[in-house]
Amino acid sequence: MAERVSLASISLPQSHTPTFMASAAAFGGATAASARLLPSAAARATASLSSSSASSFSFKCLRSSPLVSHLFLGQKRFSACASNRRFNSVSAPKCFASDPEQLKSAREDIRDLLNSKFCHPILVRLGWHDSGTYNKNIEEWPQRGGANGSLRFEVELKHAANAGLVNALKLLEPIKDKYSAVTYADLFQLASATAVEEAGGPKIPMKYGRVDVSGPQECPEEGRLPDAGPPSPASHLRDVFYRMGLSDKEIVALSGAHTLGRSRPERSGWGKQETKYTKDGPGAPGGQSWTAQWLKFDNSYFKDIKERRDEDLLVLPTDAVLFDDPSFKVYAEKYAEDQEAFFKDYAEAHAKLSNLGAKFDPPEGIVLDGPSNAAPEKFEAAKYSSGKRELSDNMKQKIRAEYEAIGGSPDKPLQSNYFLNIMIVVAVLAILTSLLGN
Ligand code: HEM
Repeated sequence: MAERVSLASISLPQSHTPTFMASAAAFGGATAASARLLPSAAARATASLSSSSASSFSFKCLRSSPLVSHLFLGQKRFSACASNRRFNSVSAPKCFASDPEQLKSAREDIRDLLNSKFCHPILVRLGWHDSGTYNKNIEEWPQRGGANGSLRFEVELKHAANAGLVNALKLLEPIKDKYSAVTYADLFQLASATAVEEAGGPKIPMKYGRVDVSGPQECPEEGRLPDAGPPSPASHLRDVFYRMGLSDKEIVALSGAHTLGRSRPERSGWGKQETKYTKDGPGAPGGQSWTAQWLKFDNSYFKDIKERRDEDLLVLPTDAVLFDDPSFKVYAEKYAEDQEAFFKDYAEAHAKLSNLGAKFDPPEGIVLDGPSNAAPEKFEAAKYSSGKRELSDNMKQKIRAEYEAIGGSPDKPLQSNYFLNIMIVVAVLAILTSLLGN
């Protein structure tokens, strides 16, 4: 039986709920703040905020919304098949875990959400915390953990590492409700990859079709995600990420996701209450960010933790170790210098992380941006014309005879002005004849 959770029953830290509620008001000032943090978002924000300011994201409404109850339902998943038929019967001849057309539409809705709420960081953290429970030493699904949508259940949301992520679920809830043939596991990963891309990060080579776990009894036990301040950060990171089958390079690249977002003392216990970079939001103000422009995905995380130039910027023990450990340091130095190298490695590592432990239906996954979205094929006229036809022998002989009659031969091409000369002679003769005739 699926566990059903009401928001009221999720015990948030005392200070947490008011902070979150305050974010609704903060969205009002989001346009100005976003211009500082993410220039490209500012223009879109003006439009989207003006259209959505009436709703202004009232969490009070959300609390009482009947939609909320849907969010945490374990088994309230439509058959993707049934829903496919209603949604788009032509493009979905076969039923998979998620419907490709609904995935694409959900991605558009996620983009709108990002542009109005500036929630990129928390959606990235949501995707990572669903997949980061994977244990490569366990073969069975779902016991092995990973990207299977288990993070929607209260039992897992209450793990200390997941403090605050209920807010990410609340943001995604209307989208999940609208696209019932998209699994939670896919929605979490879709939201995370879209957030990275929309924040200016690399395109992630994602695939979809993740199957959801069906109940809270299938959630992983607490303690699979990393601590920010363990006694020995390097070996702790290796213990946790090697268990997921990830390498030193992937640990460093993925840590670069902290270019986005903030740490809040009332959630994780880490970070300052507020800094000059976070006091104006957007979103709920406060917390401490790793970078100055914490809604922009770039390599400034590596530059900033290397230089440690500003006490308002956060450096967790697990961040600092990336420049202390000799193996991690190779990659951290490289990414601080070369954003392109960081983007390339990040995109590969993110895609791998998003697939950990997932059971795909179809087994090969669903790719949303297939060849149809690729650059148009180069135009080749030959492709569109009918095939070249050989002349018959008779016709060839006839043409050759005519050609030779005017002085040409296969070995001696005609002079280019030959015809012109003939025409001039003929014209002159014609004029003379007519003059003489008169
Ligand atoms: C290397 C081990 C990691 C540790 C110890 C760690 C720890 C943390 C902590 C303590 C926070 C603050 C949470 C809060 O107070 O709200 C945080 C936030 C965040 N983490 Fe990590 N993290 C790690 C890896 C990752 C990875 C691999 C990703 C993504 C690929 C990631 C993405 C984020 C993001 C985007 C935020 C900001 C969330 C927000 O602003 O709401 N982290 N992390």
